[in-house]
Amino acid sequence: MDEVASRELVARLSMLSLTAHGLVEVHPKLESTSTRLQHLAAQGAESGSLVVARCQTKGRGRLGRSFASPDGGLYASILLRELDQPGRAPATLLLALAISQAIDEIARVATWLKWPNDILLNDKKVAGILAEAGRDGDRARLVLGFGVNVNTGLSAFPLVLRGTATSLLLETGENFELDEVLRASLAWFQAHLRARQENKGDYIIAQIADRMPTLGKSVRAKIGNEVITGEAMALTSTGALVVMTRDGRKIVSAGEIEELRTS
Ligand code: BTN
Repeated sequence: MDEVASRELVARLSMLSLTAHGLVEVHPKLESTSTRLQHLAAQGAESGSLVVARCQTKGRGRLGRSFASPDGGLYASILLRELDQPGRAPATLLLALAISQAIDEIARVATWLKWPNDILLNDKKVAGILAEAGRDGDRARLVLGFGVNVNTGLSAFPLVLRGTATSLLLETGENFELDEVLRASLAWFQAHLRARQENKGDYIIAQIADRMPTLGKSVRAKIGNEVITGEAMALTSTGALVVMTRDGRKIVSAGEIEELRTS
């Protein structure tokens, strides 16, 4: 672990209550920040604990995929000791909105959200989130791991991703400070968690919907083993996607969607 980098990050996050009671680790290289944070959670780490790595050798993505994590990207995981409650917007969606807002303000770009929690820039993926819930004894554990392609050059991406992934460097020609992208993302995330606590979840869902160009378009989605197609209409208060199919309204609460070309 890089003790100096950890101290610098703690100082940078000092205005945030979200991370005030957690530990902070910054590693030059790790298998996976989420795997490390799960280990720390099992040892009793508090809510707001944060693990950051400058690169990962076994970065994990959603649906059992790997997540390419070369130098230049931001790879971080944060621990919450509270699981999502039924009827409320999930923390993953709040974090997706937060990262999208942080990127926009720092890089002066316009990112979009691809349901459920990818962040797109110029139609390519610039960030993704992996949520893993569990328990440590009688305490809940929600580990939110997020990767943002910040200063990643094209050659650092595996060949198969070069058509679909991008970075802030590739889109703007500029390098950005990783810890500032992290601080801004966590600041927005803290604000959204507080708004949810104050029952302003509908306002957050509206902001998320505003960043989802897929709404109003034709999509294909999987619900369990069933594949449905229809028009993505709206988000529910819990962030599920409402799809109008020939057989009526269907609610997609997990999985992945694919936008269908209409022309
Ligand atoms: C996805 O897009 O499928 C989710 C990607 C999540 C990647 C992040 S990088 C930091 C954290 N550690 C991991 O191993 N995965 C998450």
